[in-house]
Amino acid sequence: MTINVNLDDPALIDALAAKTTATRSLLRQIATDFSPAVFANSLGAEDMVLTDLIVGDKVAIEIFSLDTGRLPLETYDLIAEVKRHYGLALKLYYPRHNLLETYTRKNGINAFYESVDLRKDCCYMRKVEPLERALLGQNAWITGMRAQQSATRDGLPVRAFDEINGLEKFNPLADWSEKEVWAYIALHKVPYNTLHDKFYPSIGCAPCTRAITPGEDVRSGRWWWENPESKECGLHVKKA
Ligand code: ADX
Ligand code: SF4
Repeated sequence: MTINVNLDDPALIDALAAKTTATRSLLRQIATDFSPAVFANSLGAEDMVLTDLIVGDKVAIEIFSLDTGRLPLETYDLIAEVKRHYGLALKLYYPRHNLLETYTRKNGINAFYESVDLRKDCCYMRKVEPLERALLGQNAWITGMRAQQSATRDGLPVRAFDEINGLEKFNPLADWSEKEVWAYIALHKVPYNTLHDKFYPSIGCAPCTRAITPGEDVRSGRWWWENPESKECGLHVKKA
C-alpha cells in the first residue's frame, strides 16, 4: 500500500479506535436523522474505509459510484471485488450519452488536456451531472474527503449544508490522517485499489491521474498539467 503503518504503535491504534467509534456513530446518526442519505464512493482508500463501516454495521445508507467511462481498469476490478467481498452491488451512474457524443464530436476524445475549460466541461458531463441525478430526493450525502488531502480541502468541516445541491453534506473522515486510513485498511483487511501500491495515493479517471514520487503532495498526480488552484472536478465546489 502507499504508506507503511505500524500496527504495533499503541498511539496510532488508540487514535484509530477513537476515530472509528466517532465515525460509526456519525454514520448511524446520518441514517437516522437524514434518511434517505447516500454515500458517493470513488473506490479510493478513504471511501473503502467508509464502505467497510457502512456495510459492516448494516447502516441504511445507499452507496453509489459515478462511472465516468474513463476509470482505470483497477477501479473496475475493485467494483467487482466489492461485490465479491461484501455482496454489495454499487449503484452506478453514467454520463448522458448525448452530452458525450456532442462533446467528443466537437472537441475530440482527449480534449481535457487542451484547456481548463474543456477539462471542466468533461468533468461536468462525466461526473457532476450524474452526481446531480444521484442526489435527487436525498436529504444528505457523504464523501470520503479529508482536510489533509490538499490546500483546497484545508479546514474541511465534518458537516456543512451543500447549497449547490440543496442538501446536507457530511465528510466523516475530515479529521482522519492518511496513516489512520491505511491502518484501518490493514487492520480490517479491507479490499483496496491496487493502483495505491504503485504510488497512486489519489485516483480519478485514468487519463487524468498518474503516479507521484514519494514526498509529493497526495493530489499532485491528479490533472498534473494544471495549476493546483484549478484542481477540483466540480463535485465539491462551494457557492461563490
Ligand atoms: S475529486 O473531486 O477530485 O474527483 P476525490 O477523487 O478526491 O475528488 O474524491 C473526493 C470524494 O468525492 C470521494 O471521497 C467521493 O465521495 C467523491 N467522488 C469522487 N469521485 C467519485 C466517483 N467517481 N464516484 C463517486 N464519488 C466520487
Ligand atoms: Fe474527464 Fe478527466 Fe474529468 Fe474524468 S477527470 S471527467 S476524464 S476531465
